[in-house]
Amino acid sequence: MDNIDTNNITVSNEEFLATVAEKSHGAALRGDYEHADSHYVVKQNWHAYTEAEHDLWRALYQRQMSLLPGRACDEFIDALHKMNAADGIPEFEKTSRELFAATGWTIVAVPGLIPELTFFEHLANRRFPVTVWLRKPEEFNYIVEPDVFHDFFGHVPMLFNPVFADYMQLYGKGGLKAMKLGGLEQLARLYWYTVEFGLINTPQGLRIYGAGILSSGGEVEYCLTPGTSSRHIHLNIQRCLNTLYKIDTYQETYFVINSFQELFDGTAADFAPYYEQLKQGQALPANTLLPDEKELLV
Ligand SMILES: [Fe+2]
Repeated sequence: MDNIDTNNITVSNEEFLATVAEKSHGAALRGDYEHADSHYVVKQNWHAYTEAEHDLWRALYQRQMSLLPGRACDEFIDALHKMNAADGIPEFEKTSRELFAATGWTIVAVPGLIPELTFFEHLANRRFPVTVWLRKPEEFNYIVEPDVFHDFFGHVPMLFNPVFADYMQLYGKGGLKAMKLGGLEQLARLYWYTVEFGLINTPQGLRIYGAGILSSGGEVEYCLTPGTSSRHIHLNIQRCLNTLYKIDTYQETYFVINSFQELFDGTAADFAPYYEQLKQGQALPANTLLPDEKELLV
């Protein structure tokens, strides 16, 4: 049995696979876990991608680029242009070298979903796990599990921003702490509402920095459209940790930051007292608007 043991938290490979199978209603994981090492790292095997897969990548890339200018934050667009990822599925090693030179992060290839502990360990050591496989053509608009397009296109550009990169490492360290404090459910909400679905306020208006939106066809426009039933409210970390989220519809609340520094500073706090307090009460539904909160997209 391949066990990973850190600070008395042990997750076995078999346990992980069983949990994922349970969460996905018994469906098998899509990735090839046979050749993964003890940190779930595999070789990207770039030469094995087919021309059809590179075509599909290019189509996904072009569709997103027809939507993102004026909607994605400048930090994302600028980094994406420098990455030269438009011509096909990128070679991770090449981008990883550039990323390391920029912010000290590297990319590691993984077969797909990985255990939380392993995920946090990678982040805490400034390694971002990127799934190697690409979705099928019929999943062009929607995919359940993260694939290489979501992970690479959506997440990697933001890691070129030094402050956001530091935030991601801080999150990984926070994840390891949360596992010991029983705060994982709460902390996962922060990842969801920032790294995946976060918006940032800029002098030009709200912009997207969350990978779940940046790699999605429909939500790019939806999340910035005034007058929908979704909320756009300023990020309060403790409030966010206590807010449920939707995994199968557009978000009902988008948390907005004013700067990446604000996000880093808020996450540098000790969450232990928050977890204790939040565990006593009820989490807020995803569409909550509290009396002192103001809708920011009008
Ligand atoms: Fe993601």
